[in-house]
Amino acid sequence: MQDIKTAGEPDEVGFCLYRSVAMPSLTADELSVIVDTASLNNRNMDLTGCLHHEDGLFFQWLEGPPIVLFRLLEKLRDDNRHLDMTILDQGTLPRRLFPDWQMRYSDRKAGSLMDWLQRRHDSSASSIGTFLRDIEILEEHAR
Ligand SMILES: Cc1cc2nc3c(=O)[nH]c(=O)nc-3n(C[C@H](O)[C@H](O)[C@H](O)COP(=O)(O)O)c2cc1C
Repeated sequence: MQDIKTAGEPDEVGFCLYRSVAMPSLTADELSVIVDTASLNNRNMDLTGCLHHEDGLFFQWLEGPPIVLFRLLEKLRDDNRHLDMTILDQGTLPRRLFPDWQMRYSDRKAGSLMDWLQRRHDSSASSIGTFLRDIEILEEHAR
């Protein structure tokens, strides 16, 4: 883990991890539009995070200025491209976990969250957060 004092981000950041059910009819093109819009908007809003899509579910980690973040969450609740949005964890962090990603996208090909949770016998929010960070590490090695 990086030392908090070396992270270069003195202010606490808000974060949120949620799960939702993707609209069954969602196409690959529509998914690309979601990721592209998210990346563009998040850059302007100083938000970072990741979106994992697997077995018809979305898991999204968002972090940044709390007010901006909570405004986006309200928009997300109204977005009919997904349903049953459930907040798994939220709070503040001393530093961002995804400082270099406006919205990193992953799916089962990058790593299976379901398989990973099953192996660990633990599907807690912190376990899901650990998985999301782990696949980032794998992708960084692949770059
Ligand atoms: C699963 C999912 C994740 C999304 N993630 C983001 C996001 O990280 N940032 C964002 O601005 N919009 C995201 N959106 C889109 C928003 O719900 C909303 O459509 C968009 O912010 C509206 O942008 P606009 O006001 O520029 O039209 C996401 C939508 C879905 C279905």
